[in-house]
Amino acid sequence: MKVDVLLGLQWGDEGKGKIVDVLAPKYDVVARFQGGPNAGHTLEFDGIKHVLHQIPSGIFRPKTKNIIGNGVVLDPIVFKTEIEKLAKYNLDVKANLFISKKATIIVPTHRLLDQAYEKAKGDNKIGSTLKGIGPSYQDKIGRQGLRVGDILSNDFASRFKKLTDIHFDILKNHSIDFNWADLEKSFLEAVEFLKGFKLVDSEYFINEELRKGSTILAEGAQGSLLDIDFGSYPFVTSSNTVTAGACTGLGVAPRHIGEVYGIFKAYSTRVGSGPFPTELHNEEGERLRKEGNEFGSTTGRPRRCGWIDLPSLKYSIMINGVTQLLMMKADVLSIFAEIKVCTHYQLNDGKITEEMPYEVVNEKITPVYATLKGWNVPLTDLSEKQIPKELQEYIVFLEKELNVPITLISTGPDRSETIHRSKNI
Ligand code: GDP
Ligand code: IMO
Ligand code: MG
Repeated sequence: MKVDVLLGLQWGDEGKGKIVDVLAPKYDVVARFQGGPNAGHTLEFDGIKHVLHQIPSGIFRPKTKNIIGNGVVLDPIVFKTEIEKLAKYNLDVKANLFISKKATIIVPTHRLLDQAYEKAKGDNKIGSTLKGIGPSYQDKIGRQGLRVGDILSNDFASRFKKLTDIHFDILKNHSIDFNWADLEKSFLEAVEFLKGFKLVDSEYFINEELRKGSTILAEGAQGSLLDIDFGSYPFVTSSNTVTAGACTGLGVAPRHIGEVYGIFKAYSTRVGSGPFPTELHNEEGERLRKEGNEFGSTTGRPRRCGWIDLPSLKYSIMINGVTQLLMMKADVLSIFAEIKVCTHYQLNDGKITEEMPYEVVNEKITPVYATLKGWNVPLTDLSEKQIPKELQEYIVFLEKELNVPITLISTGPDRSETIHRSKNI
């Protein structure tokens, strides 16, 4: 068997949580491979909306094992809150959740450092979720981080102190208010709580599942345009959000990767700062935000909205080796009589390109649009046979441009509002 990967092709919030939940019954294992509590993955079924930050989106399917991989940064405090929220649903989380001992721990000072660094950036702030992602990955790469397995060692308290002392040394140069006694207490309580879960050598675990023939889905967080290497640097997150990240974030060899599901919204959104060529600063943008309920699942911030951007999608498809495309939120575009698709970028010097330029921050990129007719009808209770002609044309147009089949369309937030266009998904 292979490890299939599902990941976002835009700036996050494409609808990964919903689709992982939809696909989970087909998979024995769902595994998160990067990111941390900056993610907010929404699932909706039986009239209830759930937002998961660190727990994989297979958790509501009783037969699915869920792994938090070594590439993840885990905040024990957020983890405890998340688990407690799930308590009323009678899930056997303790049986179905496996946490890598090699996952990096977010300590409370990482969150304080995130705030301090953002404040110091002034107008150039990243718009971070302030969950401690950048500082915890910095400590991992700087070879001084704490890992989940460390909580089982006798000297964890002194190692925690050593790390936080380094952070305090930096923080004294910044004016950030905090009550350390409270933060430390809730952290240490959460660490004790975490000890009650299955802390495993997840690279052995997942490779053993592969050997047994289990089906495995790797669940990406954020999106390809937020990738530390390939995103709109420096306005990115601090991990590899692309397919390659599933290999390093789980301990799976590249030859074991199977399908790569690239998920995208039928338009574009971005939360936080950074370049966004097709952003709409007008009433159309407002309408998209309102109709799509485009407010961050983690921070509640309004998302910036714009038309679909094919040069960036083509780039993400190339980097990830996408084999199937999944188009989300088609229903939101029902409000428009005409729909625009950015097919090329015009650069400062007048050059027209369909490639992502190296300089995306200081380059003035003007989108070149094709205009398609909208379908202008609601998409509730739709089956594949009833897809309106104009939506079908939109899909065919995108497939031709992107050269990858669109095998699934989502027409609403609920599990059931999903149209499969292929037997392969
Ligand atoms: P994720 O981070 O990729 O899991 O995406 P988020 O959960 O942050 O954001 C996606 C939002 O869109 C959530 O509020 C979902 O409930 C919602 N959603 C997902 N698919 C659809 C869809 O097809 N139509 C509509 N209207 N909403 C959707
Ligand atoms: P999911 O998994 C959308 C954005 C932040 C900010 C930048 C860096 O729900 O799609 P960070 O907290 O990582 O330092 O923030 O990345 N960002 C996301 N945007 N969806 C996410 O996750 C995001 N995670 C981080 O807004 O611009
Ligand atoms: Mg999200």
